[in-house]
Amino acid sequence: MAKFARRIETMAESAGQLHALTSSLAGGSLVSFGAGAPAVEAYPFDKIRDICGEVFSGPEKGLDAVKYGGTMGLDSLREAVRDCLLAPRGLEADIKNIMITAGGIQPMNFLCQLYIEPGDVILVESPSFIHGTTIFKMFEARLVPVDLDDQGMDMEDLERKIREYHPKMIYTVPTFHNPTGVTLSLERRKRLAQLAEEYDVIVLEDDPYREIRYSGEHLPFVKSFDRSGNVILSGSFSKIFSPGSRLGFILASDEQIAAFSDIKLCTDTCTNTMAQAIAASFFKRGYYEDHLEYLCGLYRSRRDAMLKALDAYFPACTKHTVPDGGYYVWAEVPGLDMTGMAKEIADELDICYGIGSTFYTEGNPEGSGRSTMRLNFSGLTEDVIEENLKKLGGFLKEKLA
Ligand SMILES: Cc1ncc(COP(=O)(O)O)c(C=O)c1O
Repeated sequence: MAKFARRIETMAESAGQLHALTSSLAGGSLVSFGAGAPAVEAYPFDKIRDICGEVFSGPEKGLDAVKYGGTMGLDSLREAVRDCLLAPRGLEADIKNIMITAGGIQPMNFLCQLYIEPGDVILVESPSFIHGTTIFKMFEARLVPVDLDDQGMDMEDLERKIREYHPKMIYTVPTFHNPTGVTLSLERRKRLAQLAEEYDVIVLEDDPYREIRYSGEHLPFVKSFDRSGNVILSGSFSKIFSPGSRLGFILASDEQIAAFSDIKLCTDTCTNTMAQAIAASFFKRGYYEDHLEYLCGLYRSRRDAMLKALDAYFPACTKHTVPDGGYYVWAEVPGLDMTGMAKEIADELDICYGIGSTFYTEGNPEGSGRSTMRLNFSGLTEDVIEENLKKLGGFLKEKLA
């Protein structure tokens, strides 16, 4: 039997954690606060059905949607990124700098292909998005955690770590961070772009949640403050349209995007043209603005229900974030081992959550994050959130008694 390549070993632990998270998406009797998917009610089924009819009718019978596409993606979808996702948030871009990718995760792979040699240091928020850290480890990067507070990545700690470790890249989810829900402040966004330039480090600004805001003002992209080309922005259609369409994008400089185009060609030729054609039409027909408003309304009341239930039913010592958008609240119950108790809670209460410690990377103090949880509210109704957080809170209070 041929031996597997070494990189699979680096992935095994993270893949196990990811399987655990994704199996919590699969349903069954468990009530899952561990998921990270849109609500079933959030998919624009009727509109997609109409659009499909349009895409495959007319003289060309949807030729663009079924043949191989260019490596950069359909112009119509790149224009939608420029006009509907970037310009309204204050970022002017040319479509020659926008590439459509297979979801918002593919950009992480592509940045590693372009920049990362084995042993290179990548600075990541602590805690950080598991998919990202899994990919970085697969490329044999060395991950160094940077402190995070309620304003996002701590810029003093970041600069200290840049000086100490000479990283190749900084990975950040600046808006409604996965897993904590916190958002990088305006001042820190500016500072991050400055530091990237000053120390010549690449920043991957991974921003798939930014559109889904329930309170507060939209903040500029870190990329808006980038003068050196060191900041590369990636986004995704998964949370605002459909994750099954596997669509995302990268915005980068001329030189970088040319390299990404080569990488795309050598990796998977082009992104799914059928999904691109349908998504492009969704934006062209002007459906997006209303859909986004609907999504924000749907999730806002779920977020509010979660925050209210945490305050009402969890032990008084519980600390939690108050996200202005996105999908997640991060909660910590000091004195309890939420990692160790996850199985007992699933067996006894039929409830699961994102196990906080799995979002931490090496280099953290022993036991880091064991009293934390990532709680997803997007996929559960207000009633289910209230009822199950009440049960969980009661259980935790007994444990502390
Ligand atoms: C931090 C982060 N980045 C990127 C993505 C993009 O995922 P996808 O490849 O499904 O578009 C997600 C989705 O969960 C995410 O949470």
